Order: sequence, then C-alpha cells, then structure tokens
Amino acid sequence: MRAVYLNPIVVNSFLLLLLSRCVWPLALLFSLGMMPAAFAAAPAPAHRFEIGANEFLLDGKPFQIRCGELHAPRVAQEYWQHRLRMVKAMGLNIVCAYLFWNMHEPRPGEFNWSGQADAAAFCRAAQAEGLWVILRPGPYACAEWEMGGLPWWLLKHDDVKLRTRDPRYLEATKRYLKEVGRELGPLQVTRGGPILMVQVENEYGFYGKDSDYMGELRGALLDAGFDVPLFACNPKQHLKDGYRADLFPVVNFGTDPEGAFKALREILPTGPLMCGEFYPGWFDTWGAPHHTGNPTRYLTDLGYMLKAGASFSIYMAHGGTTFGFFTGADRPFKPDTSSYDYDAPISEAGWVTPQFEQTRALFAQHLLPGETIPQPPPRNPVISIAPVAATSLARVFCNLPAPLTEERPRTMEAYDQDYGCILYRTQLPPGPAATLEAAAIHDVGQVFLDGQRIGFTDRRSRNFRVQLPERTHPVTLDILVEAMGRVNFGVEVHDRKGIHAPITLAVADQAPAELRDWEIFRLPFDSAMLDALRFEAVQPAGAAVGVPAFWRATVKIEQPGDCFLDMRPWGKGFVWVNGHNLGRYWNIGPQQTMYVPGPWLKAGDNEIVVLDLLGPEQPVIAALAKPILDQLRPQLDFARAKRREVKLRTDFGPPAHADSFAAGSNLQEVRFGAPARGRYFCLEALTAHDGGPLASIAEIALLDANGQPLSTEGWTIGYVDSEEREREDGTAENAIDGQTANFWRTQWGEAQPGFPHRLILDLGQSRVVGGFRYVPRQGAADVPGRIKEYRIFVADDLIDP
Ligand code: GLA
Repeated sequence: MRAVYLNPIVVNSFLLLLLSRCVWPLALLFSLGMMPAAFAAAPAPAHRFEIGANEFLLDGKPFQIRCGELHAPRVAQEYWQHRLRMVKAMGLNIVCAYLFWNMHEPRPGEFNWSGQADAAAFCRAAQAEGLWVILRPGPYACAEWEMGGLPWWLLKHDDVKLRTRDPRYLEATKRYLKEVGRELGPLQVTRGGPILMVQVENEYGFYGKDSDYMGELRGALLDAGFDVPLFACNPKQHLKDGYRADLFPVVNFGTDPEGAFKALREILPTGPLMCGEFYPGWFDTWGAPHHTGNPTRYLTDLGYMLKAGASFSIYMAHGGTTFGFFTGADRPFKPDTSSYDYDAPISEAGWVTPQFEQTRALFAQHLLPGETIPQPPPRNPVISIAPVAATSLARVFCNLPAPLTEERPRTMEAYDQDYGCILYRTQLPPGPAATLEAAAIHDVGQVFLDGQRIGFTDRRSRNFRVQLPERTHPVTLDILVEAMGRVNFGVEVHDRKGIHAPITLAVADQAPAELRDWEIFRLPFDSAMLDALRFEAVQPAGAAVGVPAFWRATVKIEQPGDCFLDMRPWGKGFVWVNGHNLGRYWNIGPQQTMYVPGPWLKAGDNEIVVLDLLGPEQPVIAALAKPILDQLRPQLDFARAKRREVKLRTDFGPPAHADSFAAGSNLQEVRFGAPARGRYFCLEALTAHDGGPLASIAEIALLDANGQPLSTEGWTIGYVDSEEREREDGTAENAIDGQTANFWRTQWGEAQPGFPHRLILDLGQSRVVGGFRYVPRQGAADVPGRIKEYRIFVADDLIDP
C-alpha cells in the first residue's frame, strides 16, 4: 500500500501499537480522550476500506467498485428507498452522491439538511439497502446543476474568483465543508457508516492547474473530520492539472476505457484503476435533440472494465429530475432541461429500461464470491389526468412587489436575489423609432412598452437588441428578465443574472444615449411571493393569453400515482404541484412533459399553479402515463429556429497556421509562429484520418499570446458549413462547451457533405490568439471524422457584416 493513501484506521491501529510499546505520557493523553476528534468519536468500525497496492480492499479483501450515481435532490424523498432498491437490483454495490452546496447553504451561514436536502437520511437509506456510498461534496459539482452547485451569493463580490484560492471563496468553502463534516462525518465507514471515499472538488483539471488550491480543499476536508480516502476525478486530458500525490486519482470518460486507463497509469503507476464517471447517456438542453446512449458501446466498455478488474461509477445510474430552480446551463449558453433522464439505465420515473436489464445480466457474470443480485422492486403506480382548464389567474404585472430604485441597473445578485425573474422599468419620452440595447441580458429578456410585448432578447444568440417603434406619448418601458440557471461549467460559472449595464437607446445614426433612473422589481417566485399572489377568475374567450401570468387549476384525483404533465399547450415557465416546484418547461422541447412523483399528489383536490412567461395556447392541465422527452418544436422558438445566414469573405488570405493533427484521441496543443489578431477564428478541416467525408471536434480552446486559455464568454458560432442537428446533437456549440464527451460533427445521414469543412468561432470582439488546444472526438481508434490536415485563419472580417 502506498503511504500517501493510508487509511486512518490503519494509521490509528499503528499509533496504538506504537503507544502500547512506548512513552506513557502520550498513551495517557489518548486514554484521557485528548486525541483528535476524528479518532476519539469513532466507535469500533464495522468495516475497513482501503486503497491497496493493486485493488480496493474491503475488510482486507479485494473489492471491485460497481458504483452508480444518483442525486438525492433529483428524486422525491418518498422514493429514495425505491430508487436505491433499483440501484441494488441493477447489480451495483455503491451509490455515488454529489452534494450541492447551494441547496445546503441557500444564504450565507444558513444551512439546510432537511427534506430533499437530508443527505444523512439518504446515506442511511443506502446503507439500509446494503449499498455503500461515495460522497462528492463539492464545493463545485458541475452536474448540470445551477452554477455547478456553487451558491449564487458568492457572486455578490464583484470580482470574486471562484474555484481559486481567493479568500472570499475559500473561507466560505471551508465553512461549508466543516458543516458537511458535522452532518456526514459520523456516517463514514470508519464510524460504522456507509461512506467509503470522499471526492475533493470535481474535474478541477478542466478549470485550473493550482494544486495548492486542491491542497486547501483537501485540508478543509481533513479538518472537517473526514478520515476515509480522499480522491480527485478528471477527464484523461486533464489528469495532471492540479494533480497532488496525496489525492487518489480516478479518470472520467464516456468511451475508450483502455486509452483512459493508459493515461491514468502515467500518474498512478500502481494501484486500482477506477473510472469516476462513465456515461451511459447524456443530458439534454433546450432546443437540441434528445440524447440517447449507445448501448453497444456502453456494454462493451462496461464489460471491458469488469474483466480488467477496474472499478467504475456509472454517471447516471438514475438521473431523475432537476426540480425547482436548480437546472444549470452548459456553455457558451445552452440551458439544461428539467428532466435529467440522461437515458440512464433507470428512467426518470424509476422504470426498468433495456439498458437496466443488460447491465444487470452483465454484472451477474462478474459477482464477488457470495454476492447475489436482488429482483427490482415493482414499478410505482402510474395514472393519467384528463384535461382540466385553469380557473383563475394572476398576472405578473399586477402582482409586483415594491420596487427598488437605481440610476443604473445592476444584476440580480447585487439585489440579493437568488433565482426567478427580475423586472427593470423606466419611463421613455415620446420619440422616433429607436434601437434598445444592453451590454448583456442574462438570460431571456421580454421587452414591453405600456404592457405590450415588443420583442425578445436572447443570450443563446447573444442578441441583446430590440427595435422600439415610434412613441407619440410618454411610455413605460419594461424589461422582464428570466434567469435560466447559472452556467455550471468552466469559468462561465461567474454567471450574474439580469441586465448588465449600460442600457442604451439609439436613434438612426445618432450616438446611443444611456437610459437612467430605473425601478427594479425582484420576482424570486419563492413561497412568500406565491402565497401573496392575487388570483382572479379566468375570463372566457382567451383573455390574458400572451401575457406573463400564473394560472391555477384544481385537479381531482381518485388514486394518486406518478404521471407526466402534458405541457404542449403551454409556452415557457414553471409548475408547482401542491406547492412542489416541478421545474422548468419550454414548448420548444425536446422535453414536453414534466414528471410528477405520485407522493406529491393526493386523493381529492390538488392545486396546480403554472407560471407561463410567454402565455399558453390553451390554459389546460392534463397528464399522460408516459413521458415525451424527444419532441423538438423549433418553429415555436422566438429567437433561435435557425442559424443566422452569413456571407463569408471570398478569400480568407494566408492562414495563421497550417498543419496536420496527430491520429488518436489525445489533446493536442498548437502554438502559432506569431500570434494573430481577429474577431473570427476559423478552423478549416481539409482531410480526415479515416479518409471519409466527415469532420468532428470534441473541443477546441483558444490560447492567448502567452499560451493561457481565453475565456469563452461572449463567443458564438459565427459559421459552420455542416452540423448534425436531426439524428443527434452534433451542433457546432459542442466544440466550445468545454465538455470532451460530446462533439461537433458534420451531417452523417443522407447528406454527407465532403471536405473542406469550416467552423468559424465569433469571439464577440477582436482578440489576440497565439494558438489553440484541440481534443479529437473520443472513442476507439476507428471513429470516423478525426481531422488530419487543417488550416487556421484569424481575422476581423472573415464574415461580411
Ligand atoms: C462532467 C461532470 C459531471 C457532469 C457530466 C456531464 O463529467 O463531472 O458533473 O456534469 O460532466 O453530465
């Protein structure tokens, strides 16, 4: 066993041995109970978990970790036991659980460990089902969760640097981890609980290289009383970034276990191999095709790991639902759906899927001596609900709280607001038609003049401009901004919501004038606000359709059961069922139904409140017995039905760089002979390693003149000649979302346009680019579309304005 991963139980026994043979005064100190709290509080552990020379060891015996991820807040608490039984019946022996800091500390120093946030109860429930627990407490989690689990209130410091040693961040982190230790420390295996290992941070290598930062967090967990092995996970390209010898490394991947473990062996020459996250499917974002996994690939890779004696955690074994305001967003800005079905082996509603059966059958061939796999529990009852019309409504504009006043508007965090919407209001004098523009609006803005919707702003396309008509009299200008979940990945987690000033009004050729003197209305849609809503009866003949409003319906149910609310007649917003916030819906899909856990319904009358920010086609509630998670309706998207048509310059001039990428799936860093400057970065792919017509890129990150990564803030895809948008999510944004598991690919159906292929990034402004990092599409040696010869162009005018 390597000293660096010594389990404290072993250290403890060693100390006692030492003490029994030597100095009395020391032994006396221990016998008087003056030893460190972590040891003192521990009753004799029921089990012993260690990282051995070649394998994990449980009570001294080799132990292959067959783990699956499940997040307690993504499953109704009433169903935790059911889902844990499903996990067990799939053949897993461990459940892996993130903690989301923002759920546990909604306001600085105010901790929440109850209800859906009762992590200790979840761990005990796992233990009761005979499952061990791997705990991933953060502080950062990612997980398509609002801000990756970081609390929004950290952003109240204007210049805070998250996930660094910035004392404002680090102090808050340490306070939180201490609290985690208080709450969950007693549930470690060393004290008779189920927690075997604890993760430090999450894929930090994707973000930075500061191993001292990782050291600070490691220290904080030790101080908090964690004495089980601590580990760090990273994708194979970033295993060395932030690496420390005192944290056990594991590697995350969706395919090619052989390649990933080879990379892991470079920093872990001996010791058990483990995949920290192995993806059977993937998450969905609004407006993009529903993801489904590749079961053949999944089973082959899982089989490979089982045979090789490697350990793994299936991310997700059961994805569940991101209830409430907790969905995150991918970068540059792709907000996540509420359904976190993930095409996981256990479906969103907890059902057995073909992947579940196949995984179970595969595990049955690889059990440890004496192990058996139980039968899955029965499916929970499912109901449907016939259409019921909403009977009352409360218009958002008629239910505004008292405003704050400001000369220049600021973001939501500056007004101490966490989630929901924020309304900015000012008065405009009469005047000619003009262009309204903000530096940025996060995320969707609806612009109203005297209560009439004039247009939308949309962060997905970085459109922060709306044309205002001529005004013959003074009017009230309202900008209703909806926060859609803070970005959960990359440096973009510094995602402040609302309006980023200045807001200007420009008439024809005149210089824009800044609009000042605003009223700010905070609309957090929390229970206090919901309870205070003044509802009125719905008038027949479609009155109020088309304005932001809450709609209320009473739905009679004989026998409660799981169901899927059919949101197709609605626009965009949130739903509360008997006070439970089910999450966000949006008619553009792919998710068209919302999962309602049966225990949140009751026999008799149920109150359903729908907040629709666009206005429904018909305010009717109905529920289906099956989910619809794969229906896109781009024609309903107010801002993004198609990529903007652009004209390319006919001659791109001499390239900034031209070369060939190496074969294989490893990250490749390219530095130009001389840095180039421009707003547009074009990668022109000329050939592929496989000789075929397809091109693909898992990830591309640009470097500045010093070789440091440029922030992707403000980037969009300027142009792409081909992308797969129908058969799967192969859009060009995948090349700049920071994730290496998904990728941009050219169309592969009937249309298979050939080389050259061009991907042009619009950096929003002219930047100096000294090189770039390229991650090829991941997978086996023969995956098609890995680019070979290429040329790079950087200029301000590759695209005609
Ligand atoms: C990364 C993160 C996870 C999750 C997955 C994608 O690997 O570590 O939290 O975000 O990506 O689902």
